[in-house]
Amino acid sequence: MQAYEKLLLENRAWAKEKLLQDPKFFSRLSHLQTPEFLWIGCSDSRVPANEITNTQPGEIFVHRNIANMVVHTDLNLLSVLEYAVVQLKVKHIIVCGHYGCGGVKAAMGRHSLGIINKWLRNIKDVYRFHREEVDALPDENDRVNRLTELNVQEQVMNLAKTSIIQKAWKEDQRPHLHGWVYGLEDGIIKPVCEMAAGTHIDILYEYDNL
Ligand code: CO
Repeated sequence: MQAYEKLLLENRAWAKEKLLQDPKFFSRLSHLQTPEFLWIGCSDSRVPANEITNTQPGEIFVHRNIANMVVHTDLNLLSVLEYAVVQLKVKHIIVCGHYGCGGVKAAMGRHSLGIINKWLRNIKDVYRFHREEVDALPDENDRVNRLTELNVQEQVMNLAKTSIIQKAWKEDQRPHLHGWVYGLEDGIIKPVCEMAAGTHIDILYEYDNL
């Protein structure tokens, strides 16, 4: 059997199991999704949103990219964000990084990786803002992990800088923003920052005509 054929076989078994537990599972979900959470995570195969939070299909709206970035020119991210906030009316947005992130590590180095350089440039900027603090750590893994935390904080800030979030905060007092970091070595998520709806940020970024 080919490796991909096993995926299809496992899918059949999974669907059968789900129906045994809850005969209406698929018919209910096929009509409507009402997730409370938007997850912005790393594409890393070891950090699957549903599995590590023990949630089911229908519970989390998910966007993943390399190093869980919120880039203001990323049409993909912005479309997901607007849909989640305006249409699905999610109550929480979680930016979840992970310790040992290859994207963060690569961004700290000088090796060219082709087109991905352009993406990692955004993390280099985060590194530059926090260089003194990060470089003061003697161990390389500690430096990568600290920058991972700082990067998550920065991406939460990037969410708060969007008119999408500011408008929802003003009109609907949601969503609550969270910055989390997942540990590959122990499976535990560490919350590193949060922003309640209406939190004020640098006035330079606050739009006054929303
Ligand atoms: Co990663």
